[in-house]
Amino acid sequence: MEKKLLETLNGKKFKIPPIWLMRQAGRYLPEYQKTRKKAGGFLDLCYNSDLSTEVTLQPIRRFGFDGAILFADILLIPQALGMGLWFEAGEGPRLTGLLDGFDIKNLKPADQVHDKLEPIYQTVKNLSSALPKETTLIGFAGAPWTVATYMVFGKGSKDHSEVKRFVNQKPEIFDKLIDILTRATIEYLCQQIKSGADVIKIFDSWAGALTGQDMIKYSFDPMNKIASEVKKRYPKIPIIVFPRGVGGGYELFSKVEQFSVLAIDSAVPAPWAANLQDNITIQGNLDPLLLVSGGEKLKIEVEYLIHHLNNKPFVFNLGHGITPDADPNNVSRLVEYVRT
Ligand code: CP3
Repeated sequence: MEKKLLETLNGKKFKIPPIWLMRQAGRYLPEYQKTRKKAGGFLDLCYNSDLSTEVTLQPIRRFGFDGAILFADILLIPQALGMGLWFEAGEGPRLTGLLDGFDIKNLKPADQVHDKLEPIYQTVKNLSSALPKETTLIGFAGAPWTVATYMVFGKGSKDHSEVKRFVNQKPEIFDKLIDILTRATIEYLCQQIKSGADVIKIFDSWAGALTGQDMIKYSFDPMNKIASEVKKRYPKIPIIVFPRGVGGGYELFSKVEQFSVLAIDSAVPAPWAANLQDNITIQGNLDPLLLVSGGEKLKIEVEYLIHHLNNKPFVFNLGHGITPDADPNNVSRLVEYVRT
């Protein structure tokens, strides 16, 4: 059977676009909460291949999405490189960051991440046999910049001023960190492909914090390097890039041959994004909040996106991840609207 999402990523146009959602496995689903509890905690869940497979499959069973994204996290790479990582309940990730005195000399070489990440590759293998034949399996990693923001500051940040100050004051150290992450990410993604991923996505969730030439240097260039190397080894695997928040910078990303698909955030006007479809397949960009509030507006905004973006190959998605307070009934409605 044909994999509709994969075909679209390769440039085929369907009357009804394929749909999947960022963070489609997660806390808004009661069955996720249950499995997470069984695992112990979020990281225990990531490293438990059987349970990670289960939570990846949950939204496929419930909603029949065209794509399943591997259940893992972008911060497993710093941990595999030897940095401390844990999750504070109700607060989010914590790392033994550079601003707390971690020396990058203590990071493992980029090609030694695989031991720790073996369970993730096993999850990909499980999924590639457990998924329905028509479902596309998406592997992923964080982009070096976004992962580095956590490795420097040790947690999420409001405006990323701390990491930007670090970049300005210690560029040699920061450049080295970006280089290590770039190489480790290439190895990680290639191993996911080898294990059965049909597609990979690179999340640069904090690209929008970069200013001036740093956007090119720390978001665009590393993603380009990763995509080029992965494409060199696996020419047929499509690559989705998500440089969230780069505004007009999306145009630059749309022109790179190695990028198959450009995922856009909710702030990008659909008629403007339609112009980029001459260069690249677009994925996006419904506001995740509409899955909390629902109602008539959800339908109206879905129709608006389809009207503007479904004239060329298009992947229906959100502009960022589903939030924990989303209503699963609204997700069902969304799928129904897109498919009818
Ligand atoms: O369904 C999917 O999309 C696949 C799984 C996935 C997760 N995280 C699971 C997760 C993916 C692709 C990610 C990527 C990720 N992780 C990003 C980039 C995408 C984005 O959302 O911008 C980032 C920045 C992270 C780092 C991260 N992980 C943070 C900041 C947090 C805490 C915030 C939060 O939402 O709780 C996480 C935890 C996390 N990653 C959860 C899930 C389902 C929630 C953990 C829980 O069960 O409590």
